[in-house]
Amino acid sequence: SSSLQTAFLGSYYQNPFMNASGVHCLTVKELNELSASRAGAFITKSCTTKEREGNPKPRYYSVPLGSINSMGLPNKGFDYYLNYVLDFQSKSSDSLPFLSVAGMSIDENLHMLRIVQDSAFNGVVELNLSCPNVPGKPQVAYDFEVTEEILTKVFDFYKKPLGVKLPPFFDFAHFDAMAQILNKFPLAYINCINSVGNGLYIDIESEGVVIKPKNGFGGIGGEYVKPTALANVRAFYLRLKPEIKIIGTGGICTGRDAFEHLLCGASMLQVGTQLYEEGVSVFDRLQQELREIMNKKGYKSIDEFRGKLKSL
Ligand code: DOR
Repeated sequence: SSSLQTAFLGSYYQNPFMNASGVHCLTVKELNELSASRAGAFITKSCTTKEREGNPKPRYYSVPLGSINSMGLPNKGFDYYLNYVLDFQSKSSDSLPFLSVAGMSIDENLHMLRIVQDSAFNGVVELNLSCPNVPGKPQVAYDFEVTEEILTKVFDFYKKPLGVKLPPFFDFAHFDAMAQILNKFPLAYINCINSVGNGLYIDIESEGVVIKPKNGFGGIGGEYVKPTALANVRAFYLRLKPEIKIIGTGGICTGRDAFEHLLCGASMLQVGTQLYEEGVSVFDRLQQELREIMNKKGYKSIDEFRGKLKSL
């Protein structure tokens, strides 16, 4: 029977599934549930230097085809998550933890990364350049010059494995331009995609919006976003140098969705909306469903089909 074992950044994970940052990873309790679950790896909530309350509630709403959120980066603060991952790595020999950071400015990101660089942390940092939900703060990676400036300043001193969380792009000109920037840096990976920013979901009974922040505008996740997520994984897989791996995130609800992301070239897979809906048992189901597809097709390992999407 088939194995889901995944090599990523020099470590072996039992399977490629993780939570998407933001879901089930705010508190030590949730993080412990993840690390005790069948997820192959986990990532912490995107953090800022200081604890944040986030946006006013209601700020998350789910509908049959997905979710809308405008959480606004509520988090327990950088020290809380750094302490958690340091503690985790001291107890667990195999899989490396992922620490997500999302400073409100270039300097705040550099400040947190300097502390991580000087710490004993030996896991992976994910720099979130794509939060759509902080009023007055645009999604960083839609500004290509600022993105290049941040990465230049980061890699000036940061020597540990680092990935970036990207927003979705929708045009080949943008895939080309962003890939050209990313290829200049020793990035460990990119993560495609964050939520599709600033969608609007409406309740016709009340004739109003369903979340409070930003007059109802928020990031869209779940089934709605899978084609956009797959396109971003594929577009970057075809444009990035092979040392830069890809984490596929967006619309992974079934084993089939996972298989599609892997075919497009994803190495690891993150689950947001569906994890929120289903809880950590989603990881058992996704593995069963992915294994079943692989068995039917006669694949013994993910490497036999990763990235091998056929064109017509
Ligand atoms: O959809 C998102 N929500 N993406 C992020 O990067 C941050 C999060 C939030 O806290 O608003």
